[in-house]
This record gives sequence, C-alpha cells and structure tokens, in this order.
Amino acid sequence: MKNKPTVIDLFCGCGGLSYGFIEAGYDVLLGIDHWKDAIVTFENTHKNAKGIVADLFKETPQEISKKTGIKNIDVIIGGPPCQGFSIAGKRIIDDERNQLYKSFVSFVDFYKPKAFVMENVPNIVSMGKGIVKDSIIEDFEKLGYSVIYKVMLASEFGVPQNRRRAFFVGTKNNKEFVFPEPITKNPLSAKDAISDLPEKSLTDGTKYKTEPKSDYQKLIRGKSDGIYNHEITNHSEQTTSIISLVPDGGNYKNLPEELRKTRNVNIAWTRLNSKKPSFTIDTGHRHHFHYKYNRVPTVRESARIQSFPDTFIFLGSKTSQYKQVGNAVPPILGN
Ligand SMILES: C[S@@+](CC[C@H](N)C(=O)[O-])C[C@H]1O[C@@H](n2cnc3c(N)ncnc32)[C@H](O)[C@@H]1O
Repeated sequence: MKNKPTVIDLFCGCGGLSYGFIEAGYDVLLGIDHWKDAIVTFENTHKNAKGIVADLFKETPQEISKKTGIKNIDVIIGGPPCQGFSIAGKRIIDDERNQLYKSFVSFVDFYKPKAFVMENVPNIVSMGKGIVKDSIIEDFEKLGYSVIYKVMLASEFGVPQNRRRAFFVGTKNNKEFVFPEPITKNPLSAKDAISDLPEKSLTDGTKYKTEPKSDYQKLIRGKSDGIYNHEITNHSEQTTSIISLVPDGGNYKNLPEELRKTRNVNIAWTRLNSKKPSFTIDTGHRHHFHYKYNRVPTVRESARIQSFPDTFIFLGSKTSQYKQVGNAVPPILGN
C-alpha cells in the first residue's frame, strides 16, 4: 500500500479520470473542482481522497498546499477546461481564457511531480495550426519535462463509446513514456453495455433481476449490490411518438420530411446503435435515445457507456448527475 504513487486530480469533476488511476494502482489523495455536486460524488467514490471545492482561477498551488498539508506528490492529472486559446506569435499568452491551463502548469511547477497527465478536447492538437500544442509542450519542457501527446479513441481501449480525448504526458529526468497500443479492433457495443438494464425506472439499490448478458456487464457490475441512478426521463407524448419512428442506429433522416426539422440541431433524434459503440455521451441534452426504448438513456446507462462501474454512485440532482457523467474521462481509458 505504502508504495503506491500519489496523485492530485485538478478540475476533477466527479473523478472519472482519477478513478481510472485508482483502478490502475495509484493512490489519489486530492481532487479539486469549483463544482460542489461533483466534489460530493468524488469524495463518495474516492474513499482515500479528499475533495475540495475551489476556484482554480483564483487559488494558487501554494494556498492549496497550505490548506491540505500536501507537500509532495508523484503525479498530477487533470483536464483544464479550454474555451479556445489566445495566442500571440507562436505562444499561448497569459490572458483570462488561458488561465485555467496556466493554473495546471503552475501546479506542475510548484509540486514538480515525477509525471503529469493533462487531458483535453481532441482538436487542441490542431488549434492555431499546431501552435497551441507546441506551446503546451514548450511550457512543460521549460519546467524540465519530456512531453508526448496522443489523441486516443476510447472504443479501442475497452470502452463501448467512440469518444476521443487528447492526452499530454510529461515525465521528469528523461524517463520514457510510451502510450499503450489499442487493445481491440472489435469494440464493445451499446448493447454489450446496457442490455441488462430495464426500460422502466428502478429505486436506488434494486437488486439485479438477470445474470449479466456480456463479459463487460459482468466486469462493470463488479461488487455492486444493486442498480443505482436508473431513473428514466418521461418525455412528452409527441417526443415519444416521433422517436418511435427512428430505428435502432437511426437518426432524423429516418423521419418523414415534415418531422425532420422538429428539432433544430443535426444530432437530434439519434438512436444508439445496439451493434456499435455509442457516440460520445453528452451532458444531458436529450437528443440521443436508447437503441430500443423510446427514451433517453438513464444516468446509469450513460455511466455504463462511459465505463463507470455500477459501484460508482452519482449524487446531486438528475441534471447534475448527467453533467458529471458526460464531462468525465471514461475510467477504463484513464486506467
Ligand atoms: C471536463 S471536466 C473534468 C472531468 C474529469 N477529468 C473527469 O474525468 O471526471 C472539467 C471540470 O473543470 C471544472 N472547472 C471549470 N472551471 C473551473 C475553475 N475555475 N476552478 C475549478 N474547477 C473548474 C468543471 O466544474 C468541470 O468539472
């Protein structure tokens, strides 16, 4: 136990990324986010970790270190939200839009961990024709780190979802890091992930009524004593009748012409495809529907698609739970 590398998760949300680290044998000590609900879920699911609600626009690593008593750390992980980057010449500059990224850099500078993992949206590597990516690498190289990056596709690593995230990994003292190769060419499907969950709502803690229907379901149930966060959304009669016209894996193009424009976004009226990995789970916009039932996936179904184990229980309002799930890095990808 004593030799597990220690971790701080910045902008931790509910802690999808750091949960993956726990499963991989790390000791997550601390998560920081300015979002109270997410921190409540984080603390409840990361038993050894402390979660603190703090605005990383304002709080410095010095203040956090003083507050928590954490003076040394082996690994810093996190995904600073990026609202685009402001660049001048070939550099990311110090303005408000870049401050959360700069905050991540300042934590690495302060703690000088053995390694860091910074994740972000996949197009960060092409922003500003690559200047953003080059500038990120340079910022960390200045602190003495060797940095490599890769855009990873979750479905190639045992997650039933085609989510892409960019990862920058830095190591000190020229220690080499190699990104893992994809583990499968036959990705898991939405059906593999959720076919054992019923059409109707369940009270939290309801026992499983069936055996797992796939190896993935067996894995994800783990030691859970039942099903949580499976409360369905009741749609209007109009919504239910429109979505009933869309087949498994279909979308608005399957609707009669006059109904196609009932929602003004391209992604509207999309159903999961039972035979394929899910598209990227969002934060609860209610445009993506179950492959079979005439409703959006529940929080638990979304969590399954994100590879959260059934023991990982989301707290807060249902809207907040959807957001926590949708924002997260799939734990199995983090792992
Ligand atoms: C993409 S989510 C992180 C998800 C997380 N890595 C996971 O795997 O579950 C980004 C997080 O940054 C947090 N955040 C945004 N602005 C912040 C700020 N100024 N200070 C602290 N946290 C902030 C959000 O509340 C959100 O939880």
